Amino acid sequence: MIPKVRKAVFPAAGLGTRFLPATKAQPKEMLPLVDKPLIQYAVEEAKQSGIQNIIIVTGRNKSSIEDHFDVSYELEHELRKKDKTDLLRIVQEISDLIDVAYVRQKEALGLGHAVLRARELVGPEPFAVVLSDDVIDSEVPCLRQLLDVYEYFGASVVALMEVPEASIPAYGIVAAEPVEHNGTNDRVYRIRNLVEKPKPEQAPSRLAIIGRYVLTPEIFASIEAIGPGAIGEIQLTDALRHLLRSRPIYGYRFEGRRYDAGDKLGFLQATVEYALRREDLGAPFRQYLKSLDL
Ligand code: G1P
Repeated sequence: MIPKVRKAVFPAAGLGTRFLPATKAQPKEMLPLVDKPLIQYAVEEAKQSGIQNIIIVTGRNKSSIEDHFDVSYELEHELRKKDKTDLLRIVQEISDLIDVAYVRQKEALGLGHAVLRARELVGPEPFAVVLSDDVIDSEVPCLRQLLDVYEYFGASVVALMEVPEASIPAYGIVAAEPVEHNGTNDRVYRIRNLVEKPKPEQAPSRLAIIGRYVLTPEIFASIEAIGPGAIGEIQLTDALRHLLRSRPIYGYRFEGRRYDAGDKLGFLQATVEYALRREDLGAPFRQYLKSLDL
């Protein structure tokens, strides 16, 4: 029996230096895409994928995330008093969303280090990792797509996307070969190697890891076994390469459109496209964009 994935870990303790000064006093995960923080999109994706428990790894400035997913009695009271039932529902839905636990990462020592902080709360079971600054718009939630592959192979799975050569140094890059799955062989890969942030000439392919992972619990021992890697941090990619010595790892080139919301341009693109799709904002916003002398 392949054990079910019930928990998802959300690293949110990074310094967010790419987004200063907005991230000086709040985590980048709280930056709003139109009117919803990035982390809420990611938590909703996890819930829609069947995840039952959320573990958020927080750093300094953690309180806004905790407050966001908590009940806000004063706000609810005010909205009720003013008969703003639509807003009241929106606010209540967030705290009703899912069970959230928090663990602190005191120093931003890397993604691998952040995931290791969740070890006690995850326990000896498979789990997902979701990076909120990778916003993915898709028909089937991206994490659900990965879980389907996990449930078939019973092994760790990472989300993959082809990136332009110039962007390679921003990602974990894999060497992988396609695997026949469900009668096709163009989305599932067997991973043979992984390199964090290589130079384009040293990269084994243009297939980049995007921030959705399903991991088996042996990853924790692998994170402990490795030392600092690219940019001096404990990298999850390096731990996966370590895990590869003893376990198979798969990659899935997911269906959907991904926005790099941790980057200013990517964030703006996501903002424009999400706003255009909104029922309440789409039409006037489109009209406004058309009026611009570009
Ligand atoms: C992290 C991972 C990297 C992955 C990327 C996806 O990098 O370390 O392997 O490709 O997320 O967004 P970061 O964006 O934190 O530099």
